[in-house]
Amino acid sequence: MNINSKHITLISGSLRKESFNTKVLKNIEKEIISQGYTTTFVDLNDFPIPFYNEDIELKGIPSNVFILKNIIVNSSGLIISSPEYNGEISAVLKNTLDWLSRKIVNDTPKQNFLGLKTIAVGASTGKNGASRSIERLQVLLERLGVDKNILNFSLAKCSSETFDNNNNFLANEQKDIIKNLIFNYLGSFDFNKEALTN
Ligand SMILES: Cc1cc2nc3c(=O)[nH]c(=O)nc-3n(C[C@H](O)[C@H](O)[C@H](O)COP(=O)(O)O)c2cc1C
Repeated sequence: MNINSKHITLISGSLRKESFNTKVLKNIEKEIISQGYTTTFVDLNDFPIPFYNEDIELKGIPSNVFILKNIIVNSSGLIISSPEYNGEISAVLKNTLDWLSRKIVNDTPKQNFLGLKTIAVGASTGKNGASRSIERLQVLLERLGVDKNILNFSLAKCSSETFDNNNNFLANEQKDIIKNLIFNYLGSFDFNKEALTN
């Protein structure tokens, strides 16, 4: 992890073109950029990786795993959004995180995620707002070694009424919640605290 980097990686766990999770993350990304940070938005459609299989791993780690690993280790923050499928995070996201949890030559264990400031996000059409997959994601992220203070954001009852034509939140309530979330999130970065006290 590059703790001095003002760079945040966002990963959407949905492959769907009109994904609500991707739209929520894009709103979060805009708020982060407006605070002077840089971002990488990871659409997993762009990083196809085979299902984890030790036989494949022994032949060589897939190149997209290396690329994603490099993106993540050069970030100080990671924000992941996942749809809830039968109470769990999406299979494509779990597979990606499983590959990224593997030790690559010269790595120390869990190096990819160690100490990263994270937010676990979930959006769903149902009334529970993907709260069960958010819980799963938090447990998984903690296991991977991220900073223990994992924030979360849940959005229930997503529909075509939730976003405008530019995929911005229509409701001021959602805009305010995202602003506060990102204010708290970026405020937790150590270099921000130093800047505030100097
Ligand atoms: C196989 C399947 C299982 C689902 N299970 C749940 C669920 O357990 N809880 C829930 O709130 N929504 C569930 N949904 C609805 C999804 O959360 C909803 O389709 C959501 O919009 C998907 O996220 P996306 O818009 O980012 O692609 C399920 C959808 C599918 C296709």
